[in-house]
Amino acid sequence: MSSTAATKTLTLNNGASMPAFGLGTWKSKPGEVGRAVVEAVKAGYRHIDCAWIYGNEAEIGEALAGLFAEGVVTRDELWITSKLWNNRHAPADVEPGIRETLDALKLERLDLYLMHWPVALRREVVLPAAVTDLIPLDQAPLADTWAAMEGLVDAVLTRSIGVSNFSVPKLRALLEHARIPPANNQIELHPYLRQAAMLEFCRSSNIAVTAYSPLGSRDRVAALKTEGEPVLLEDPAVAAIAQAHDVTPAQVLIAWALQRGTMVIPKSVDPGRIRQNLAATSLQLRDEDMRSLDALDRHRRYVDGRFWSSHGGPYSPSALWDE
Ligand code: A2P
Repeated sequence: MSSTAATKTLTLNNGASMPAFGLGTWKSKPGEVGRAVVEAVKAGYRHIDCAWIYGNEAEIGEALAGLFAEGVVTRDELWITSKLWNNRHAPADVEPGIRETLDALKLERLDLYLMHWPVALRREVVLPAAVTDLIPLDQAPLADTWAAMEGLVDAVLTRSIGVSNFSVPKLRALLEHARIPPANNQIELHPYLRQAAMLEFCRSSNIAVTAYSPLGSRDRVAALKTEGEPVLLEDPAVAAIAQAHDVTPAQVLIAWALQRGTMVIPKSVDPGRIRQNLAATSLQLRDEDMRSLDALDRHRRYVDGRFWSSHGGPYSPSALWDE
């Protein structure tokens, strides 16, 4: 572990050192995301979390190229993650999937490439509009997609591979067949969704965990929200801890994630908040703070996967999260 909190790294099961704190780019709009990446890296961020589906990788690629050309950082000083979209699960589509991302990001290889969801879509479908757009997992086995992901490591297109939104049973099944075990599971994690059993399983299986939507993802589109849902950033217990440390609620949430030993990737496109979030890496919460944050758990998913289940079909919430 390195000395400054901002650059604290966790060692993955393949020996790679991954910065525990990074910039999320889901919902960062074209026209904003490039500036956010430049701002973040200049401030000291060394880990950028991307995905094909975010629709902004080309602009991130321009930003990265500018940072390298200016000499702000070298490629080796940055950790870049991206994710395979669900319509590229057919083994023959996996390498073209990463190559499309690499071209957009203007990189020769990624540090980490994740299977974005344990959900398969027909190739021509980006988001399902009908049940026929979804392919059941028995017709598109995750193990087959994983074998193609392993081929990306062999081809040196990414250093590490992992998954996202996988349940414990799905991780267990994957580990049974994997030649290269997943290095990371990226999941929604915050005090309203503590996922203690998942963390314990991943710890015992040597799979690092990355916390997405650590601030409660309040900028996601209305269709993904539930009326009257609790607002994590406005929780009184979080506010009280923030006040005690003279920091913001967002900083408390970031420090909580890091102190639990997870990676955390808060999204921001605002220069002040980008710096504020980075500063949270040196915040030390007390045991009692951690306990009261842990007590907020209400199994609340802000990203509940409704886009996979709303048309019916094989990906019901329980099939997704429990099986
Ligand atoms: P913005 O991009 O304008 O800063 P999550 O990472 O859970 O998806 O949350 C992202 C949301 O939280 C965005 O709306 C983002 O807005 C906002 N956000 C990011 N950092 C902070 C912060 N330090 N304080 C308050 N809101 C923040």
